[in-house]
Amino acid sequence: MGQVKNRRIVVTKRGAPDVLAVVTEPVSDPKPGEVRIRTLAAGVSSYDVMLRGHWFPGQKPPYTPGEDVVGIVDKLGDGVSAPDIGQRVALWTFGDVGGYSEYICSPAERAVPVPEALDSDEAVALVVNYLTASLAIHKTAAVESGERILVHGAAGGVGSALVQLGVLAGLDVYGTASAYNHEVVEALGATPIDYRNQDFVARIHEMTGDGVDVVFDVIGGTRQLWRSSRALRKGGRLIMLGMASAVQGGIKKIPGSMAVVALMRLLPNGKTTPMSPGMENYPAQNMDWYRESLAQFFDLAVSGEMKPLVAERFPLLEAARAHEFMERGGYAGKVVLTAAATSS
Ligand SMILES: NC(=O)c1ccc[n+]([C@@H]2O[C@H](COP(=O)([O-])OP(=O)(O)OC[C@H]3O[C@@H](n4cnc5c(N)ncnc54)[C@H](OP(=O)(O)O)[C@@H]3O)[C@@H](O)[C@H]2O)c1
Repeated sequence: MGQVKNRRIVVTKRGAPDVLAVVTEPVSDPKPGEVRIRTLAAGVSSYDVMLRGHWFPGQKPPYTPGEDVVGIVDKLGDGVSAPDIGQRVALWTFGDVGGYSEYICSPAERAVPVPEALDSDEAVALVVNYLTASLAIHKTAAVESGERILVHGAAGGVGSALVQLGVLAGLDVYGTASAYNHEVVEALGATPIDYRNQDFVARIHEMTGDGVDVVFDVIGGTRQLWRSSRALRKGGRLIMLGMASAVQGGIKKIPGSMAVVALMRLLPNGKTTPMSPGMENYPAQNMDWYRESLAQFFDLAVSGEMKPLVAERFPLLEAARAHEFMERGGYAGKVVLTAAATSS
């Protein structure tokens, strides 16, 4: 058998999905304190699509996208005693060498064992989206049982996680989604609102009277955020979590979004805009939280109390097709790249 090769996807420059290229290289050995993982499933997010298509602060081409992976530990770096070789693990992978790769080296502490009963594609859907949602709902919003929340993009990766964690926390959950996703949103336990054909501010006030306690907004943009603030009751919290609208609209969505947050801070209506930390650094700085949260999500998925949604699967080397699929829209949950590494 010749030397094992790694194939990974690289964003060669900003542009359409065809800027994603396959690079073949010798597989790297793990450094001290690292493990090497052979990828089974890698997550795709709308952040990856946005960063590939538009200039945003952050990674600059060439880079390998992808923030989460499930795979098999195949080599240990010096000083690593766990996890064992052969163990299936999940991990958060932020940085210049992201998850769209047949092999990935990572600090060993990031690799969290995946229970046998859990499918790899479902497990990968539980990593960044559910960590983001948990941070927002439990720490930033600090929700209390009985509160009412509105989740935008409720059938999306982060949105479906927010809905499920909200229901588990005993909240009354409303979720915006296109009509084709309403059955999904209802099945997760939320009351759907058709944001394309209905005024979500009016619907929220019709259904709740004085509005919701918290809005989680992953869509962004001036008008969207301003309307989200109007769906809040007096004293409510608006948590801005993402910019799904920037997949089409690009960086110009950012200044208006920031202006709304700044304006809300000046208005004397008691509504607040707590900022949730981004996923770029938070897990590395809070390893116990990261490992305990993932283990808990896996247990909840195995017991059936939580249902990670897999929207579609594509072969890892066809990541461009996955990006085209996401740009077309019309899906629910997480898009996953599946891998079967070869040696040559
Ligand atoms: N803060 C962090 O650390 C962090 C971590 C992860 C993700 N994010 C961000 O969160 C955002 C969402 O990511 P994702 O991976 O969950 O995306 P996603 O799976 O593509 O979901 C986005 C959803 O937005 C819905 N949508 C689009 N336009 C809408 C609108 N105007 N109103 C309501 N819903 C709308 C779509 O639903 P329909 O098809 O039903 O219309 C889609 O399902 C991205 O900007 C991402 O960068 C942030």
